[in-house]
Amino acid sequence: MKRKLARFAENETFPHMFQPKMFPPVDHTLKGKWHSDFFKNNNPIVLELGCGRGEYTVNLAEKFPAKNFVGIDWKGARLWRGAKTVQENKMQNVAFLRIMIQNILNFFSPNEVSEIWITFPDPQPQSTRERKRLTALRFLEMYKQILIPGGIIHLKTDNKGFYDFTLDVIGENKFNKIYATADLYHSDADNEILGIKTTYEKMFLEQGMKICYLKFAIS
Ligand SMILES: C[S@@+](CC[C@H](N)C(=O)[O-])C[C@H]1O[C@@H](n2cnc3c(N)ncnc32)[C@H](O)[C@@H]1O
Repeated sequence: MKRKLARFAENETFPHMFQPKMFPPVDHTLKGKWHSDFFKNNNPIVLELGCGRGEYTVNLAEKFPAKNFVGIDWKGARLWRGAKTVQENKMQNVAFLRIMIQNILNFFSPNEVSEIWITFPDPQPQSTRERKRLTALRFLEMYKQILIPGGIIHLKTDNKGFYDFTLDVIGENKFNKIYATADLYHSDADNEILGIKTTYEKMFLEQGMKICYLKFAIS
């Protein structure tokens, strides 16, 4: 608990960590201004939704210095890990945002985002919780409002049910499925980028689980 509180306190000091009040939900001052007011360049902005400790965000940001990355999660102690690494490595192309993804439209404007990664989302297996899944249609409709036309969404999950659910949503809505595999590490997918492993992925791999990967566009 003491360590958690110390992390929350340090989060307040990071210039690349944003922890806005979520109630009442209002547009954030950076909405539509991430390029001009935070990153200070016009490089594409990539989001990682439910980023936890931000491993994908940080690794991608190191591989792609000409892109900007925003890791989003509501758990401050997890975000601290990614934010600390960004500080230690003096990275200029990463921010973290502590919000509920449900409120994402208060933080990004149309065409502000080029790409989205969803890494090991909570599977929400009960049918009553279907609308909480981060690839439920209501979420995809929000992502559509902030993504550039043809903007790519990547999903990595150990959960075959979540993967199948997302395939169904893509099929039913005639979205553009670009690549799909229920066994990433025995597929012909490019493992240079897809092989980045988050905390949850390492745990699932140790349990012998297969990793599913889906790449699609919604406009
Ligand atoms: C299973 S963890 C995966 C974390 C990380 N992507 C990884 O692979 O290690 C799911 C993460 O999504 C976050 N999350 C789930 N639903 C969310 C929501 N609606 N808004 C913000 N964060 C959410 C949780 O706090 C958690 O950190």
